[in-house]
This record gives sequence, C-alpha cells and structure tokens, in this order.
Amino acid sequence: QKRIGILTSGGDCPGLNCAIRAVVSHAKLQHDWEVLGIPYATQGLLERKATLLNLHGLDLRGIDPLLSMGGTILGSINKGDTLAHASEIIASYRALALDALIAIGGDGSLAILHQLACQGNWNLIAIPKTIDNDVALTERAIGFDTAVNTIVDALNRLTFTAASHDRVMVVEVMGRTAGHLALHAGIAGGADCILIPEIPYSIGGVCHQISQLRDRWGRKFAIVVVAEGAKTANDSSIAETQNLASLECGMGQYIANQIKLYNLADRLDVRVSILGHIQRGGIPSALDRLTATAFGKAAVDLIAREQYGQMVAWQNGRVVDIPIANVVTRSPLPVAPDNYLVQTARCMGIYVGDG
Ligand code: F6P
Repeated sequence: QKRIGILTSGGDCPGLNCAIRAVVSHAKLQHDWEVLGIPYATQGLLERKATLLNLHGLDLRGIDPLLSMGGTILGSINKGDTLAHASEIIASYRALALDALIAIGGDGSLAILHQLACQGNWNLIAIPKTIDNDVALTERAIGFDTAVNTIVDALNRLTFTAASHDRVMVVEVMGRTAGHLALHAGIAGGADCILIPEIPYSIGGVCHQISQLRDRWGRKFAIVVVAEGAKTANDSSIAETQNLASLECGMGQYIANQIKLYNLADRLDVRVSILGHIQRGGIPSALDRLTATAFGKAAVDLIAREQYGQMVAWQNGRVVDIPIANVVTRSPLPVAPDNYLVQTARCMGIYVGDG
C-alpha cells in the first residue's frame, strides 16, 4: 500500500489531465494506492495542500472528461521563488506522508524538482510535458503534438486570407529558446520561411525568398513562421543582447517591420498574427492522449518497482525510463543544425535561416 503525490508544474499544455487520469487509474485499479493531487505544484507543497484523487471523483455522470480536457485540474505555476522556500517545501513531502511524488513538468520545473528531491531524499518520478518539445532524451513530451496541430490549423486559415490579398503573413509562434514547434508546424503548415532561435536568419534571406516566390512561381503571398525567440544574423543589437524585452514589440512584429523596410519600393502588404496562448490550450490530440496515458502508466510502474529518480521517456517507439539527472543537464534541447527536418525543409524550398 502506497500513498503517492502528483503535481503539474510550469506552463500548462493539452494532455496533462490525461496523464493524471492514467496515474490515478493505474495506481487505484492495479495497486489500490492513494493518490494525492497537489495543487499549483511547489506552491501547494509549500502550503501542504493535497486532495485525495479517486476515480469516482474524476467522473462526471459516468463520463470521464479528463481525456479531452485541456489545461490541468491541479493548476500550475510557471515561475516562483521556489528555491527561497526549499527547506519548507522539502519538509512538506514528509509532512504529507508521501511514499513517492510524480512531477509532470518541462525542463525548468524538472530541474528545480530534481534539486529539491536530491536535497530532501524524495522518491521522485518525472513525466515530461511541454509544447516546446525541448526536454532532452525523449522524442515526445506531452502537449507538443496538439500545439503543432493548433498552429497548422491556424496556418491553413491564414494561408487563404494571405493568398486572397497578396499579403505576406508573419505568424509568431511560441519557442523562446527552442524552435521545434516552429519547425514542425512550419513544414506541416506550408510555411515559406521558418525562423527559429537556433539558426540565425537575415532579413535579406527572408526577402529574397519572398521575391523568389513571386518571380519564379508567380506566388504573390508568403507565409513566414517566426518563433518568438528567433535570432537574426545581421542585427547586432538583437543578436548580442538576445533579449526580446529590448524590442519594443514581439519578434513577429519586428520581422514584419523589417520586411516592410527592406521592400519600401515594392510596398509589400505585410500582416502579423501572434498565436500566443492559443497554442497552449485546446483539446489534446490522439497522440498526446496516448503519450500521456502511456507515460502515466509507466510512472506508476516505476513506483511499484521502487525505481526512483527516473523520468519516463519516449525513445524508438516505446516508453523507457532514464535518470532525471541526465535529462536536466541536457535540457532545454535545441534544434541541432543537422536536424533532418531542417534539411527536409530546405529541400522543400523553405528558407530556414542562413546556413
Ligand atoms: O514553455 C512553454 C512556453 O509555452 C514557451 O514557449 C513560452 O515562451 C512560455 O511558455 C510562455 O509562458 P507564460 O506566458 O505562461 O509565462
């Protein structure tokens, strides 16, 4: 008989509730363990708040809403002064009489929780989630697939309006340090340019692509997908500071302005769409539901084997587990310059920065 805690930490994403559901189902049905939901991650630990989760409590007239519900029923925090309260948070694990804790988080949250677990001798199991897909050593993190599909849906819509008005449509997507989201969605959504943090772009390169489309193919519109942390090769002020706060606008608007300035004579009609937190919301895709369910089940299995300090991960078509310590030292994982999707995009005629 065990009493385990579960929390969700960092930015929310679709599929978190599927993972919670899988953990509760497997823990209760196979082992009859108690599962405590800890609200707002380390904030809940600090305040020693926990709610007993049970299958009936998660049901709504026999219908289980958690499979299709975005966000997290446990709530989450994205920032906080967690380490300032480390000793109190560490003590809460014992005060709540937990045998183990499952943390669903991205690279930042997992690094902090790993540190707390090491200091407090917690039995920690991690489940990776992030729409950025930049947790190392796993091919999939919960939330990424749904976010890619959300962006692709937006690109489908924006392409029609861009084409109808002969416009350049600049679409800003999330991804402050990693461009996996922009790269995947840009290729799948038919972008003409994909600008990501890892590969510096030049505005000359972007504008050359736009004029090539017109001159070679008679295309009068273009779709430019920009990760919010895209880096330019030729604007030293941004390249040096790499500080978006120093821009008076977001990256999408900045690039739209640069495109207009570069093409003053052509009077290009440029518009900007910032997809923002729409990318984090929504109904989880089938793939995210499957990933979350498999990860939740695997996390409970690790606790049953008392194999702690591990993160469940997707590698080569199956769920494996790896030491959290190895994950946090390698995260956030950038897009490698020799990434096969970067090469694929370039072969499709997409401009992916100068390289
Ligand atoms: O880590 C996921 C992420 O979606 C990033 O891509 C983005 O920069 C960030 O969260 C925004 O988070 P928030 O606005 O919730 O602080």
